[in-house]
Amino acid sequence: MATNIRFSDATWTFALNNCWPLRPEHVHPILSKLSFRYHDVPWLESVIERVQRCQEDESLRQSPRVATMLPLLDRLEDLQALLKSLKIERQSDWQAAERIVAFEKKFMQQATGGSLSALYQELPVELQGMVELAYDSHNNPSLRLYEKMLYDDSRYDSSQQSFRFFTRPNDLEYLPARLPSPETEIALRVPFDDARMDRIFAMDLEPRPRGEVMDLLGITSNKDPRLAQLFTDQPIRKPQPWTGASPRIRYLGHAGVLIEWRGMSILVDPLIPSGSGGEPRYSFSDLPARIDYVLITHGHDDHYELSSLLRLRHRIGCLLVPRTTGVLWDYSLRAMSHRIGFKHVVEFDAFDSLTPGPDMEFVAIPFHGEHGELFAAKTCWLVRLGAERMLFAADSNTFDPRTYESVQHITGDIQTVFIGTCCSGQSVETYNPLLFGWFERGQETAALTEKFRTRLTDGADADGAWSIVKALGAKRVYIYALGWEPWLIGYTGPHKDVFLTEARKVVERAHQSGFADARVLTSPCEISST
Ligand SMILES: [Fe+2]
Repeated sequence: MATNIRFSDATWTFALNNCWPLRPEHVHPILSKLSFRYHDVPWLESVIERVQRCQEDESLRQSPRVATMLPLLDRLEDLQALLKSLKIERQSDWQAAERIVAFEKKFMQQATGGSLSALYQELPVELQGMVELAYDSHNNPSLRLYEKMLYDDSRYDSSQQSFRFFTRPNDLEYLPARLPSPETEIALRVPFDDARMDRIFAMDLEPRPRGEVMDLLGITSNKDPRLAQLFTDQPIRKPQPWTGASPRIRYLGHAGVLIEWRGMSILVDPLIPSGSGGEPRYSFSDLPARIDYVLITHGHDDHYELSSLLRLRHRIGCLLVPRTTGVLWDYSLRAMSHRIGFKHVVEFDAFDSLTPGPDMEFVAIPFHGEHGELFAAKTCWLVRLGAERMLFAADSNTFDPRTYESVQHITGDIQTVFIGTCCSGQSVETYNPLLFGWFERGQETAALTEKFRTRLTDGADADGAWSIVKALGAKRVYIYALGWEPWLIGYTGPHKDVFLTEARKVVERAHQSGFADARVLTSPCEISST
């Protein structure tokens, strides 16, 4: 009888954009070009420079700051060759990015209140027929993309997309540039929407005959050592459907939460680890065979995490995402998700709702606060199960506590709140390396840098989180999305103690106020079930 095999628990899968850890910008037809020219290549050059310095400096090699560089120390020439070939292969993207930036500058200079019609003649070929030029109500020029058309057009390029299957020495391994390692990993250079991937990922719950797996993954020899390294014939511990009377809620790590109730399963912001040993975890084979709804709070790569989403795609019924504006950095998660193979994607404005069953409702709730360049592509999710309301607030902040008081007037008390206390973030430039429009307004770079420092990709501190929790009338609070689990290092960097300090302050106030439950979530666990 043929042996059925599956990925071993230790095998990770990453979706990649060439060598770079994937971010949503890599998928977007315009941002991918800008990202290549103004972020990814400078990043790769800085990696090469740091690897060179590590090679030359023994004391630097001992520094924890360069720990992620060490696995690349003997691959300097490979990195340099990759950079050189990418610059040749993607020369047209490089030039396109420069044309787009040149147009943006011209747009900022010339759109000063008069008609914009003549500027359409100046559009670079990448934007022709795909944009509307407009003013906002403060007379600021704004470029709005018809994103769905961009994805249906030849401007969308999937040639850099790939999947890699490999093992990692530990959860903390993070490579700033992942070079091919053909002897120890499997690489499939296929577009993200390739239907074959669904068959491959179905192995997470249903092992397949060895020969079929080899065909799917392009392995030609039975003696290929990767078969032993990456696969197993051990049975799967299959997830049991939840049949309890009350909802079962599981915290999966970072902002990931699984809710199961009355035969329905709902997953929020999945970032699912593989691996085994070390920190306890729920992995792909622990998740339900059918995930009816996935709720995405915002488009940052630790919440709209493409490697997890693509691996779960064949199990997901419907993806719920925030509605966006089409402004360049406020990209549409619906258009992107459709293009990478998700069939059912619904966009929500604030207070839009969906009622999948008589006792179940999802409502989009304002996600308040500066959060990178996302001024529309973000939403909190209210999930109502019977009389119970719970809110997934992710990285929301509140500069005006009256915002959530107003929410409470509409929704009534929300008994359970999940919220982060990531109170210090990276500069807004992390998510928009250009901010090119600003430089044409006569402001000095030094002054701008100071301004950027006041505008971070951060979330609430203890006071901010507590004001939201109080305004909503909550009785249970869970502080999550702290980037604490070790496998988060590639997304959120090393964890910060200040997040935990602020989280504990909220929990302490909740205990003093007689809350039914208050916890800091730093490790996957079951929150409630009966
Ligand atoms: Fe975020």
